[in-house]
Amino acid sequence: MLVFVTSDKGGTGRSVTSGNLAYRRALSGDDVCYLDFDFGSPTATGVFDIPAADATYGGLHSYVQGRTSSPRGIDVWTASDRRGLCPPTAVRGRLVLFPGDVGGGEFALTAPAMDNCIDLLLRLEEEFDVCFVDCSAGRSYALDMMLTATADPRLDGICSRWLVFHRWTRQHITAASGLVFGPRGVLQSGAARGHDPESLRNSIRFVRTAVPSADAFGFGELRPSQVAWQRRCDDQLRDMAVRHHLGPSVVLGTIPFEPMLQWREQLITDADVALSHVANPETVGAFDDLAQRLSDEMAWEGL
Ligand SMILES: Nc1ncnc2c1ncn2[C@@H]1O[C@H](COP(=O)(O)OP(=O)(O)OP(=O)(O)O)[C@@H](O)[C@H]1O
Ligand SMILES: [Mg+2]
Repeated sequence: MLVFVTSDKGGTGRSVTSGNLAYRRALSGDDVCYLDFDFGSPTATGVFDIPAADATYGGLHSYVQGRTSSPRGIDVWTASDRRGLCPPTAVRGRLVLFPGDVGGGEFALTAPAMDNCIDLLLRLEEEFDVCFVDCSAGRSYALDMMLTATADPRLDGICSRWLVFHRWTRQHITAASGLVFGPRGVLQSGAARGHDPESLRNSIRFVRTAVPSADAFGFGELRPSQVAWQRRCDDQLRDMAVRHHLGPSVVLGTIPFEPMLQWREQLITDADVALSHVANPETVGAFDDLAQRLSDEMAWEGL
């Protein structure tokens, strides 16, 4: 399965959340890879705690632009600086990060670049159970590239799913809706590249990230007036999401605001929850639910 992760705005939690989803799926035994197609700012190595030196050359930029015949894949279990990523008893699958090149930037699409991209997706889809593809925010070259690739007959029959990330704010709701339904958005651009609009729409779900609980924002005690105001905001955002076609039927997951992630972009281990208690169990529970719903056919039935 190919899972394309995108967002309109930057800083939505797209990379941290999908990095954790990849990690949870690998911990449950799936072979998983993560492709950093955020060409303008390829920093996914940070989430997996991979030393930057491991990704200086031969990454996805070099591969797509034809400077190497195979991109560098990094085995996260052995290369990560993060201690205790995998409990000794876990039945784990592979977890491989394909980084962008350090210093690589955006580049225009060419036919050879498209062919390289399609070959890679075909090869990795066969080799891994789940492939996450982190696309740059907004209407980017990476998004264009993936819409073009998934419309190509060579990818017929391959399960492709799209996750659009947004924070729980007014600007983010408007932006995420615009990215999918608006001018030059995913649906319009996808149709122009040959996608069937209805099946493309059915393959898109939204993920709400860093959603604060209206009762406990996470920074100490709240006054009753603050709690009441936050509840009102939360209600308004729910109404707004429905009006922008981002209502509950198209939401695949909601990730709570997690203080640990506010401080540092990283994978959350079970030990962070159960031993050191630095992360909230609700956050890992939400990652697990979302990771499983990715392949729950009921959650992807036509709308
Ligand atoms: N659930 C959460 N609670 C609190 N902070 C979070 C949460 N998820 C992500 N963050 C933090 O938000 C910031 C942005 O996250 P991230 O880098 O994943 O976003 P992004 O959408 O990939 O951004 P970019 O477009 O710049 O690549 C990071 O500091 C991250 O740790
Ligand atoms: Mg990112």
